[in-house]
Amino acid sequence: MTESEVAPASSAAGQAPESYESAEHQSAAPPRFDRHAEAILSVTDLKKYFPVKSSGLVRRTIGHVQAVDGVSFEVRKGSALGLVGESGCGKSTTGRLITRLYDPTAGSMMFQGKDLATLSHKAMTPMRKEVQMIFQDPYSSLNPRHTVGTIVGTPLRVHNVVPDKQVLGRVRELLEVVGLNPEHYNRYPNEFSGGQRQRIGIARALALQPKLLVADEPVSALDVSIQAQVVNLLRDVQQEFNIAFLFIAHDLAVVRHFCPEIAVMYLGKIVEIGDRESVYDHAHHPYTQALLSASPDVKQAAIGGRRERIRLEGDVPSPINPPSGCRFRTRCWLAQDICAKQEPPLLQIGKSHKVACHFASELNQTPPRPVTTGLLGVDDQGNHDAGSTPTTLSTNPGYDDEWYDLKSKSFVKA
Ligand SMILES: Nc1ncnc2c1ncn2[C@@H]1O[C@H](COP(=O)(O)OP(=O)(O)OP(=O)(O)O)[C@@H](O)[C@H]1O
Ligand code: SF4
Ligand SMILES: [Mg+2]
Repeated sequence: MTESEVAPASSAAGQAPESYESAEHQSAAPPRFDRHAEAILSVTDLKKYFPVKSSGLVRRTIGHVQAVDGVSFEVRKGSALGLVGESGCGKSTTGRLITRLYDPTAGSMMFQGKDLATLSHKAMTPMRKEVQMIFQDPYSSLNPRHTVGTIVGTPLRVHNVVPDKQVLGRVRELLEVVGLNPEHYNRYPNEFSGGQRQRIGIARALALQPKLLVADEPVSALDVSIQAQVVNLLRDVQQEFNIAFLFIAHDLAVVRHFCPEIAVMYLGKIVEIGDRESVYDHAHHPYTQALLSASPDVKQAAIGGRRERIRLEGDVPSPINPPSGCRFRTRCWLAQDICAKQEPPLLQIGKSHKVACHFASELNQTPPRPVTTGLLGVDDQGNHDAGSTPTTLSTNPGYDDEWYDLKSKSFVKA
């Protein structure tokens, strides 16, 4: 068995804290999370299974990669939800489903009264103006044969946003907004640095004045000194144009300075989601605690005052045949019988905090018995308990006014 760390994959990640701390000083901290704010996007039980084909002449489907397996969340107007997790946990697939670069296997994605999951590709066309994406790699995401003017101007032309003769003027304005010289519209991507190219990608995404931006690791490929600048630029455009963000990142340090709400994914599922304070200062899922311990940017109090990194044993299991019960159990130091038999529900445990763990607790405060048995109608080993009836749990992708209090093991109201 190998030992792997939950260190962010980006080579620059080790130095990130300094850079993000300075980013925080340069502009205001993200606003507090408001769970009552109107949702612009409501995602419920979203799934994406990629078929796995056999080799040979007749290629049969022999299994499925369960890349995204039943995720639910909301993104609020003008706010930002951070989506974090290790490589391969399904972050990009989630982003690509929302922008309909992939068609979902199941689930709904309500955006301004329409379900993006079921819209035909034709009906999606006007929605593409509203939901745009920024990609991780500023080198491969821009066509090297097109000038910046063409790259940023094409969406304006395709969607007939402005008359042809006004396109150039609008392109110049957009370049200025993202901090580039407006007179450089006739240059090619290879004449720009990585950070500048990412700014071009941001200008292109802003061209159609979207209401929701899916930013897939927008700074991971950039030099550390540039990362903070681009994060600040994204925050400025968010505030200026009131854009909602789904901000995808490997590690918690990046989203901390941008997102009032954070969701942690593991093997296609959300294991913890909540406002910044709940996730950073009161993480209740062992996986979030391990991620936090690998991120020197977080307060040590968040991980029980521990200074050392929690090292996870083993590799991430295959999403083709994920572990039964809790998918994290093969790497979890708290795993018991119930974890293999019962999937832990994503349970609301606070005003704006949900966690999926039978032993949900702050680090080093593990309860002696599972906290979920009464709700699931099972005994401590996870076997069905004839004398107990399972509780019907809320499927609200947002937060309810009633939640499960872990101390009293009962539902309490706000
Ligand atoms: N087009 C595809 N066909 C088959 N499998 C895919 C496809 N795209 C992604 N996958 C698989 O789905 C899983 C989730 O991939 P995804 O790219 O969403 O992860 P990620 O969290 O974005 O990872 P990273 O941090 O490396 O970008 C992985 O196991 C990946 O191999
Ligand atoms: S449910 Fe069990 S295996 Fe999963 S995170 Fe909680 S303790 Fe670990
Ligand atoms: Mg990805």
